[in-house]
Amino acid sequence: MNKEQKHFETQAIRIQSERTPYQEHSSPLYLTSGFVFEGSEEMRASFAEEKERNLYSRFSNPNTTEFVDKMCALEGAEAGYAFATGMAAVFSTFAALLNSGDHIVSSRSVFGSTHSLFIKYFPKWNIETSYFQVNEVDTIEKLIQPNTKILYAESPTNPGVDVLDLEKLGNIAKKHNLLLIIDNCFATPYLQNPIKFGADLVIHSATKLIDGQGRVLGGVTVGTKELIREIYLFSRNTGPALSPFNAWVLSKSLETLAVRVDKHCENALELAKYLEKHPKINWVKYPFLPSHPQYEIAKKQMKLGGNIIAFEINGGVEGGKTFFDHIKMSSLSANLGDTRTIVTHPASTTHSKLAIEDKLSVGITDGMVRCSVGLEHIQDIIKDIEQALEKV
Ligand SMILES: Cc1ncc(COP(=O)(O)O)c(C=O)c1O
Repeated sequence: MNKEQKHFETQAIRIQSERTPYQEHSSPLYLTSGFVFEGSEEMRASFAEEKERNLYSRFSNPNTTEFVDKMCALEGAEAGYAFATGMAAVFSTFAALLNSGDHIVSSRSVFGSTHSLFIKYFPKWNIETSYFQVNEVDTIEKLIQPNTKILYAESPTNPGVDVLDLEKLGNIAKKHNLLLIIDNCFATPYLQNPIKFGADLVIHSATKLIDGQGRVLGGVTVGTKELIREIYLFSRNTGPALSPFNAWVLSKSLETLAVRVDKHCENALELAKYLEKHPKINWVKYPFLPSHPQYEIAKKQMKLGGNIIAFEINGGVEGGKTFFDHIKMSSLSANLGDTRTIVTHPASTTHSKLAIEDKLSVGITDGMVRCSVGLEHIQDIIKDIEQALEKV
């Protein structure tokens, strides 16, 4: 790609694997598990990493490389590695970098499976985690111990849509020599680039807005060359690699990320404003509504507010049930970041394994709904929500 073409949209489209002799316009699918060598010396030199080339698709493949190259350009990162799922990216990133006896300081509001890693699995390897509340970033320094290695957060958070001040986190990490790792899934690289604020690594579940059409699973971690090298070596041996097919789909999806996310955000803001005025809604949380508790921070670090809205229906569990049972067009599904609008009840689905006090501490109440606003016409989205609320 011409180095002058620096705009987000251009990079998302024009970064492409080298053309084959067929001169294809759009990147082909390299559905191959391995690659062949000219002879024994080339094979030896390639495995010894004296020669940079594809060996085996668990290590690299032209489709995954194209996807990773785009993600690095869009996040402003030096290097990256692509994973089969977002959770493979989260787990492998931690597992590659941590040793027994290390300590993590994390925001309490993290995705349910990430929380399970911290409280159920990492303690098996003598890795402990201390949590801070999303709205208490000032308490982080008190949690830091001599063995703390990683500071971790999501922003905006799932499902509470809270926003953390990335600049503050970056400064704390720098001051205490910690690695700052940010799960940037809800924002996508189009809305927010945590590396600008001091993150060492950025993780994505590409399953969400990056695919954007609810088709494939994928994950990616990008950051400094040095850290990605550790993550690559761990992953090359343990096997969480993204399939070439999914990488091909995701790389194509990135070509339209900017236009899709712009429209998602426009629809989400309109729905959020509608909900805020509805008499059957107790509260609405959307980063670009002035009523959001971290509105100023969101405005500082995000281009737009994203496509996720959290709101609470007046009427508790029964009100929530009635609402979900009367939804007609939107999907009742656990995924998010799809073209189709999705409504989820975190308390009984994605976050059901959390104890009641843990749910409340991250803002999950019985009547809370998480809405992933899609790309259908906004009047149809509002009409669907409206008619379901009428039944409550
Ligand atoms: C913030 C966040 N991180 C990580 C994940 C895990 O991603 P995946 O489902 O691709 O494993 C999710 C999934 O919803 C998520 O919302």
